[in-house]
Amino acid sequence: MSKITAFGTYTPEIIIDNNYFEKIIDTSDDWIVSRTGIKTRRFSKEEEFASDMSVKAVKNLQENSGVTISDVDFIIVCTTSPDHPMPNVASRVQCRLGIQNAGCNDVYAACAGFIYGLHLAHGLVTAGINKKVLVIGAEALSKFTDFEDRNSCILFGDAAGAVLVEPSEEEHFIAFNSGTYGDFGHDLYLSFKKDNINGLEIIPNGKIIQNGKSVFKWAVSNIPIKIKELVQKAGLTLDDIDYIIPHSANLRIVEAIAKNLDYPVEKIPESITEFGNTSSASIPLAIAKSQRNGGVKSGDTILMVGFGGGLTFAGVIVKWSL
Ligand code: UT7
Repeated sequence: MSKITAFGTYTPEIIIDNNYFEKIIDTSDDWIVSRTGIKTRRFSKEEEFASDMSVKAVKNLQENSGVTISDVDFIIVCTTSPDHPMPNVASRVQCRLGIQNAGCNDVYAACAGFIYGLHLAHGLVTAGINKKVLVIGAEALSKFTDFEDRNSCILFGDAAGAVLVEPSEEEHFIAFNSGTYGDFGHDLYLSFKKDNINGLEIIPNGKIIQNGKSVFKWAVSNIPIKIKELVQKAGLTLDDIDYIIPHSANLRIVEAIAKNLDYPVEKIPESITEFGNTSSASIPLAIAKSQRNGGVKSGDTILMVGFGGGLTFAGVIVKWSL
């Protein structure tokens, strides 16, 4: 059995408002706010990468909990915007934090990454393979953004969030689900070399490219169903869930989920308005923001669901204890 025993986040200092984009592309603050809900996002400095933000999120986790991390024995970094493909970001974090004897692995599951990381950490701990697992969602998306593409560049922000998963006398991970719709692979991608997915032409320019309409439609029609299935799998009803925390991809997606489930939108914490779409960091940021505002608290049953490039999704229901 396992639980989350510590939690921290990091957001870079540079705040980018919507006026920034009015100067570089044909857009407006009105369009961005009404179509996405985003008011500001943060960009990392030129020399600040996913590993740097991971380290800062873990330092915040330590400040929040006073936990020792020198004996962490596995590090999972969930990212779609690594410093480089090799070595992995987790190895950089191990080195920078002076952690000895830790296995290190990155999870590439785009905006579902953080939840896949939780699945894996729970599995490693409950199988008795590891005792102290750091799961970090860290994104330097601004370094992979095409600032000439008005459909996507207005969306993304940089940030990191981290949790520690440890053995527990009581199970705090209640239910899991995941799945993938690989035939939508070409609708959201970041390619350096290969110029096709499923035989369909893509642009291998090292930038994030998405068919926003298609991903939006997929998310609003599938994610509510996956949430219902997960709640059912746990033997619970939506009334038992104190907060649903979906990936903050777009405020309209958050609102559509609330409407479809007939679930109060106030009980769906989001990070999109202040931080933009931060991919695998968006769920930790939403939890931290909710906690600051007197929302998510110890003892709450929370359902988290990530979704994005793949197209893939992963959900988990957790008894939050922080
Ligand atoms: O995080 C991973 C998962 N990602 C997502 O879930 C993203 C899902 N998709 C979205 O969030 C939305 O589809 C977007 C925000 C990307 C786009 O919003 P939309 O309401 O789907 O807009 P659209 O693509 O249907 O475009 C509507 C119009 C188009 O003009 P026409 O063809 O109607 O003349 C676009 O060219 O808005 C135009 N447009 C813009 N206008 C001003 C697209 N981007 C912009 C822009 N500023 N930045």
